[in-house]
Amino acid sequence: MELELKKTADGSFTLYVPGLDEHYHSYHGALQEAKHVFIENGVLSLKSKKIRILEVGFGTGLNALLTACESVVLESEIEYVGVEAYPVPIELLQKMDYASLIEHKNAFKFYNHMIQDVWGKEQLIHDSFKLTKVKEKIENYECHETFDIIYFDAFGPRVQEEMWTIAIMEKMHNSLNVNGFLVTYCAKGQFKRDLKTVGFQVLDLPGPPGKREMVRAVKN
Ligand SMILES: C[S@@+](CC[C@H](N)C(=O)[O-])C[C@H]1O[C@@H](n2cnc3c(N)ncnc32)[C@H](O)[C@@H]1O
Repeated sequence: MELELKKTADGSFTLYVPGLDEHYHSYHGALQEAKHVFIENGVLSLKSKKIRILEVGFGTGLNALLTACESVVLESEIEYVGVEAYPVPIELLQKMDYASLIEHKNAFKFYNHMIQDVWGKEQLIHDSFKLTKVKEKIENYECHETFDIIYFDAFGPRVQEEMWTIAIMEKMHNSLNVNGFLVTYCAKGQFKRDLKTVGFQVLDLPGPPGKREMVRAVKN
């Protein structure tokens, strides 16, 4: 997949995929979108000292890095599984320099560890954050243990319709613990109806800058 580095409005980088005419993050701000959708409305809304997170589309690892830094503050133990079908080359990840934008003294150390080419094996990023990266399409990923939170960060339905189907949402529902939830930047009507069809309770939340809404879907 051809990838180009682009700067977004908040100064953080994203990747652009010319073949799909799609960005990895919002061009209004990659960092502020990740913080808003996955941190503030994701991990921070679950008050628990032990949390299992599945990320669909690990990509640059930005969401994992922010979560690893947050787990230090929260004093929560986090097990994080990032599924990624098309890993981003490490040289490109180093150029994105996400760690320099994050106010945490160990952000560089955590990110350097995370982006190493290690797949299918649990890595201890710090005392309370374990990361397993899985090089696999989500369609083929077999989930052996359930999760508390799913960060659903696939390319949008306009370019990758097959990631937003009822079958995938059913798989996400089955992969969650009761009271667990999925968060995503997408708030399209058909997607929300499909979430309800498979049994989710759908909450519309204010979106990050540049987007009116985002979704949290809860498994009751
Ligand atoms: C919108 S990007 C977001 C990436 C990431 N969360 C980040 O912050 O950089 C979507 C990601 O999904 C990955 N992807 C595409 N198809 C996939 C599939 N079938 N299964 C798992 N990941 C997939 C892409 O390679 C890309 O890394």
